[in-house]
Amino acid sequence: MTDTFDDTLFAFFTDLVYRHSGILLGERERGMLESRVGRRVRNLGLDSFWAYRERMRGNRGRDEIPALLDAVTINYTYFFREESQFAALSAEVFPEIVARKEAEGSDRVRVWSAGCSSGEEPYSVAIAFQEAVENAEWYDFQILATDINRRVLRTARNGSYPEDRLQQIPQEWHLKYLVRDAETPPGHLRISPEIRRRIRFRRFNLQSNADPLKDQFDVIFCRNVLMYFDEPAQQELLGRFRAILPRGAYLFVGESDELDTAPPGFTRIAFGVFRRG
Ligand SMILES: C[S@@+](CC[C@H](N)C(=O)[O-])C[C@H]1O[C@@H](n2cnc3c(N)ncnc32)[C@H](O)[C@@H]1O
Repeated sequence: MTDTFDDTLFAFFTDLVYRHSGILLGERERGMLESRVGRRVRNLGLDSFWAYRERMRGNRGRDEIPALLDAVTINYTYFFREESQFAALSAEVFPEIVARKEAEGSDRVRVWSAGCSSGEEPYSVAIAFQEAVENAEWYDFQILATDINRRVLRTARNGSYPEDRLQQIPQEWHLKYLVRDAETPPGHLRISPEIRRRIRFRRFNLQSNADPLKDQFDVIFCRNVLMYFDEPAQQELLGRFRAILPRGAYLFVGESDELDTAPPGFTRIAFGVFRRG
């Protein structure tokens, strides 16, 4: 690189990321931003941050935005993250939902994993449904799983993971839910087709107000995502979730989101788990 990542460049890229994703990057993320933007600069064959900044202007710049967001979003996740929430999901939330559906004569259960990263969250939720609900296969159970990052969505769609990352899935479920097939790379295992078919992955920016926000859901997971947004953006998103969660539906947020009190219209039932009133 022929230049340094100075304050002007830092301000330019943090502003660009904020405008296109709502992600607020501060001084603490400066090193991360510099190294990840730097990697993108080198991959494009450019020799300076400044040249990349110039490319960001005009039409070519618009086409580059998704790649910049792929480079800078933080996608840390793992299977069955936040065990206590999965315990509440299996013991309370799913049984309550299917009992209600049965009373209504419906078999339709819809879940949205908003900010699903590389797929560990929606696959864990689908496995939990299969385990917690008697005759789970009789239900029209579908998960919409969305993220802004195209790279993690490719991993998620394929559903193959290195064997060490799969250790978070309880051992007794490995034979049931993990397979090896022609598309499984060496040292990996793949989520079984019965679980994969339950999930649709889509690129979706939570800061846009396009269609997933118009469906109705029984459960929304938006865990460890709100923390990247500022307060007005968090409140706006929570308000939009409220509008598409009918009475009795559930919202799960992450430990890092620090939502200690229930958002308006919700009652807290467990750590990070809220029920629509
Ligand atoms: C730290 S991961 C959390 C993954 C998972 N929900 C979990 O709790 O393990 C946050 C995810 O949110 C996604 N994200 C950030 N801003 C977003 C936005 N504006 N729209 C959609 N996804 C976004 C990131 O790409 C990333 O994959």
